[in-house]
Amino acid sequence: MKDPRTDQGGRGAAAPADGPIGMGMQGARRILRIAAFLSSVLFLLLPSCAPRKTATVRPDEERPGRAFSFAVVSDTHTGATAHTGKKVFARIIEQVNEKKPDFLVHCGDWIIAPTPDKLGEATADTFMHLLSLLDPEIAFYPVLGNHEGDYEDYAYARSFFPVLGESGWYSFDHGGARFFVVENNSDAPDSDLPGYRSCLPNGGINTPGSAQRAWLASVLRSRPPDTVWTFGFGHRSYYGAEQYAGRKNIASARRGEGSFCRLIEEAGVDVFFNGDQHCYTRTTPIRDGEAAEGVENATVYLTVGGGGGRINRGRNVSLEFPVLEGLPRGAYVTGTKSKHFFVHCTVRDRLFHADVIDTSGALIDSFSIRK
Ligand SMILES: [Fe+2]
Repeated sequence: MKDPRTDQGGRGAAAPADGPIGMGMQGARRILRIAAFLSSVLFLLLPSCAPRKTATVRPDEERPGRAFSFAVVSDTHTGATAHTGKKVFARIIEQVNEKKPDFLVHCGDWIIAPTPDKLGEATADTFMHLLSLLDPEIAFYPVLGNHEGDYEDYAYARSFFPVLGESGWYSFDHGGARFFVVENNSDAPDSDLPGYRSCLPNGGINTPGSAQRAWLASVLRSRPPDTVWTFGFGHRSYYGAEQYAGRKNIASARRGEGSFCRLIEEAGVDVFFNGDQHCYTRTTPIRDGEAAEGVENATVYLTVGGGGGRINRGRNVSLEFPVLEGLPRGAYVTGTKSKHFFVHCTVRDRLFHADVIDTSGALIDSFSIRK
């Protein structure tokens, strides 16, 4: 399988258009036909070599510029029988299969813990079982959440998905758009809160000069000139409007030259999806910490932590905006923390559209970005 990470190897050199050196076009075509025939015979003779029918990462094999769709879910928290995670995630998988997007991204907190829950089920096994119900045609891209970081410094969680590599961050292209996944738990300033303590430093997306920062800058810099869309994913929230963990993140993510938010806004990242806060929050496009509707390089921050974890904690179930002091005036468009949901996104040329759909199938929110 081709490694989709642009920071490790990148694309191979293109073969000359007229086939291998010293070979005529007809000769090259004949060899290709023979190779195709042999590989199809081998495929039939060796069924064990066939791709496994499980959800997995599928790198970009589509031609650039075509219409495509993807879904995003976060904070499924499968396991812990007091919670509804398993039921909700099973339902969301069903809904995603009906929509049949090209791929599904999970913004972290797949599990509560890898240890057996009250029913004796190992929660990572439960998560992987539910994920195996995803249509095998739909690729899966994981993000590390703080709950994945609670055990063996992410090693346990990383072992399930090779795309996470040693670092937990990676990028890929699809349909001519660039996607990147960051690990933004480790240097969040509230990492000393209960449930976050064991996220050990792992590159620091808000740490100037860190390996992860250099990698992300390079991923954004190396976009082909005709790239229209860029989408980012992480676990921790910067503009999620819930009054608990994460409230300090925005201060550090905007501070100084090391600001992660400044980096992605200046680079024109269109949407940054995150979880952590178990609610839905949509901001206007934000640039330099201010609502910036109609500005060319600005970023919409979507908090999408409604995949199964508890949604009714805290005081403001309906979310009145802005809930958090010091966050930009007029930057919040809408939000809720009373529903479980996922997001279905479509991209067609210069039009991006997102539907936020709850587990009954009803639309919670819907918005478009046109370029
Ligand atoms: Fe969570």
